[in-house]
Amino acid sequence: MDSGPYPQSEADRQAIAEAAALLREGSTVAFPTETVYGLGADAGSTAAVEAVFAAKGRPSDNPLIVHIARRSDLEGLVTEVHPSAAALIDAFWPGPLTVVLPVRPGVLSPLVTAGLDTVGVRMPDHPLALALIRAAGCPVAAPSANRSGRPSPTLAAHVLEDLAGYIGGVLDGGAAGVGLESTVVQVQPDGTALVLRPGGITAEQLAAVLGPGAVAAAPAAAVDDAAGSGGMSTEPAEAPAAASAQSPGAAQAAGDSSPAPRAPGMKYTHYAPRGALGVVRGASARGVAEAAAGLLQAAQRAGEITGLLLFEEHKALYPAGAAACIVSLGSLASPEEGARSLYAALRRFDEAGATYILAEACPDTGLGAAIMNRLMKASGGTVIDAG
Ligand code: TXA
Ligand code: MG
Repeated sequence: MDSGPYPQSEADRQAIAEAAALLREGSTVAFPTETVYGLGADAGSTAAVEAVFAAKGRPSDNPLIVHIARRSDLEGLVTEVHPSAAALIDAFWPGPLTVVLPVRPGVLSPLVTAGLDTVGVRMPDHPLALALIRAAGCPVAAPSANRSGRPSPTLAAHVLEDLAGYIGGVLDGGAAGVGLESTVVQVQPDGTALVLRPGGITAEQLAAVLGPGAVAAAPAAAVDDAAGSGGMSTEPAEAPAAASAQSPGAAQAAGDSSPAPRAPGMKYTHYAPRGALGVVRGASARGVAEAAAGLLQAAQRAGEITGLLLFEEHKALYPAGAAACIVSLGSLASPEEGARSLYAALRRFDEAGATYILAEACPDTGLGAAIMNRLMKASGGTVIDAG
C-alpha cells in the first residue's frame, strides 16, 4: 500500500525517525491514526507491551490490536485468513477495520493477545502511522492512547492530558478523522462476520462485501456490568423510574447468561466522562427534549453542574440555558460529524466540571450504531426512556 505523499516535511521525517527509534528501543509512542490516537509498542517485546498496559492502567486480560503497514506483514502474524476475512481486508485496508485471526505462535508477546489464540490486526489509513510502522520495522501493538476507561484521544493534547509522564513521546498529526475506533470483526468458519465492536466501518459496509445476512452483532457487546464509574448515582428525585440498563439495540443487557464477550475489552466501562451520564431516547425529538430539559432543571436545582449532548437540529427544542454546558454533535444527517466530535465532547464536559450529563440517543444504523455503542458504554447502560 502506498502511504501517500507523507512524510512531506523535514520536521515530519525527523519526528517519525525519533518515534521509530523509541519503538525499537522498547519504549512507547503515541501516534495518530484515522480513528483515534494509539499508544504504540513493539508487539514482539513483552517489556514494551507491559509499559503500554502500565501507562494506561489497562487490565491485562484485554488484548491489544496489532498495527501493520503492508498487507504482506499479515502472513508472519497469523496462521490462516478465511476468504471472507480476506475479502474484508481487500475492501477496507488501509482503514478502520480490525480483523481477528488465528495468531501464529511465538511471534508476538503473549501479553498482546492476553492469552487468546487469536490476534486483532489492522492497517491504519493514516500516512504518519504507516510511515512510523515502516520505520520501526516491527508490528506495532497499540490500544487507544487514553487512560483505561477515559474517552479515546482524537488530538495529541488529549493523549498528554491522560498520559504525560507515562509514555516515551507523542507524534502529533492533528485531529483524528473518524473519531471513533475501528470496527472489530471475527469471521466465523461459515464465512459470517461477527461484529465484536462497531466502529468506523459500518455493518452496512461489511454486508455490501459479504452479502446481506452475512454480518451479525456479537451478543453481549453493548452493555457492560463493570462496577464503579458510569452509573447515574446522582439522579434527582424527579427522574423517571423507567431508567433501565437495556440497550436500545438488539444486544442483550448485562447480567444474562450469554457467553463471554469475544472482544474482551467490551466488558469494561469505557469512554466515560467524569460526571454521571445518561442517554435519553424516545419516539419523538420533542419528547426527548422535554424529558431531558426537566431532568436537567431538577439536577441543577439539586446542585449538579449539568451537561447536555444534543444534535444540532434539536437545539431549538430546549429552553435557553437548559444545561450549564451544551455540546452539539452536529447534524443527525451527518453522523460522521458526530463520530468525529464525540470523544472531544465528552472531554469538554470534564473541563466544564459537569457532574450530571444527558445525551440524546441517535438512530442505531450506519455510523450511528458506533456512536450509540460508545454512548451506552460511557453511560454504563443508563437509559432514560422519554416514552
Ligand atoms: O481504532 C482502533 O482500533 C484504535 C487505534 C489506535 O487503532 N485502537 C483501539 O484499541 O481501539 P483498544 O485497545 O482501545 O481496543 C481494542 C479492542 C478491545 O475491545 C479488545 O478487546 C479487542 O479490540 N480485541 C483485541 N484483540 C482481540 C482478539 N484477539 N479477539 C477479540 N477482541 C480483540
Ligand atoms: Mg480503547
